[in-house]
Amino acid sequence: MRIKVPEALAASHLEYADDAGAAWTDALPALAERYLDEWDLRPDGEPRHGIVALVLPVVRADGTRAALKLQPVTEETADEALGLRTWAGDGSVLLLEADPATGTMLLERLDGGRSLSAVPDVIEALEILTGLLRRLTAHPAPEGMRHLGDIARGMLDGVDAALAGLPRERDRHWLRHCASAVAELADEPGDRLLHWDLHYDNVLAAGREPWLAIDPKPLAGDPGFDLMPALWNRWEEAVATGDVPRAVLLRFDCMVDGLGLDRRRAAGWTLGRVLQNFLWATEDGEEELSEILLAIAEALRARW
Ligand SMILES: Nc1ncnc2c1ncn2[C@@H]1O[C@H](COP(=O)(O)OP(=O)(O)O)[C@@H](O)[C@H]1O
Ligand SMILES: [Mg+2]
Repeated sequence: MRIKVPEALAASHLEYADDAGAAWTDALPALAERYLDEWDLRPDGEPRHGIVALVLPVVRADGTRAALKLQPVTEETADEALGLRTWAGDGSVLLLEADPATGTMLLERLDGGRSLSAVPDVIEALEILTGLLRRLTAHPAPEGMRHLGDIARGMLDGVDAALAGLPRERDRHWLRHCASAVAELADEPGDRLLHWDLHYDNVLAAGREPWLAIDPKPLAGDPGFDLMPALWNRWEEAVATGDVPRAVLLRFDCMVDGLGLDRRRAAGWTLGRVLQNFLWATEDGEEELSEILLAIAEALRARW
């Protein structure tokens, strides 16, 4: 069976990685066939995808349902299998097979069509997500995982160049503000196993438990660095409340209380996530910072 690569997935690989992205997409059908063969899998339904991975519903030789996940090996995706193996299904999808050479994984099958994005009340969704995050970050990170301490130092090294590329004083002010928070916390980066990308689409309905986390970009660090995805996803709903700072703080406090974190430290590491995004934007040549990120930094003034 020849897998058809969804157009939107091909387009996103082209956008993020140019020629390398196109080459990866071209090789994808053969890669899928290789693992269907090697791991003795039968396709079982339409492929799904995010902006990075192609996920094929499959059935194993023993009849169990699984999901074959194919994605390029990058700094972010390289430790996904190690993270999932460490959690061993405690709040996350189970890892059944992995080939680190190509980044391919066989996962426990969840309901790919139903995520926390479909739970109408965002705070109800957030409470479920926080319950999972609490369990995930209760695990110490395994040896050898990339570390928030290194990421924080790398970010601080990039601040001057980023400031030089920003014409508006307002942008420079908030970038400096975030950098000063990271500078204060960088020597105590924590040692928990973080998910890094736990937004509402990365929590799927399941059978073993009502909801499970997928798609980690794991690193070792402070759980405060894990709050950002749930703050800025489903943003329209924060805007629709008519009081963005209040909506941001409601979400932030809900997570901090549910995780039992120190409020100020969690705010500081969240500003670290804002800084990370600011730096990526300026590296891409953007000259104005995102209004959403500025709004989050501004709202968090009440906590930092
Ligand atoms: N274990 C799974 N079972 C069923 N569907 C899955 C599973 N993992 C991922 N999916 C589906 O594939 C999509 C993309 O997978 P994901 O791991 O989130 O990759 P990406 O990094 O591209 O977002 C998910 O949004 C979901 O619809
Ligand atoms: Mg995803």
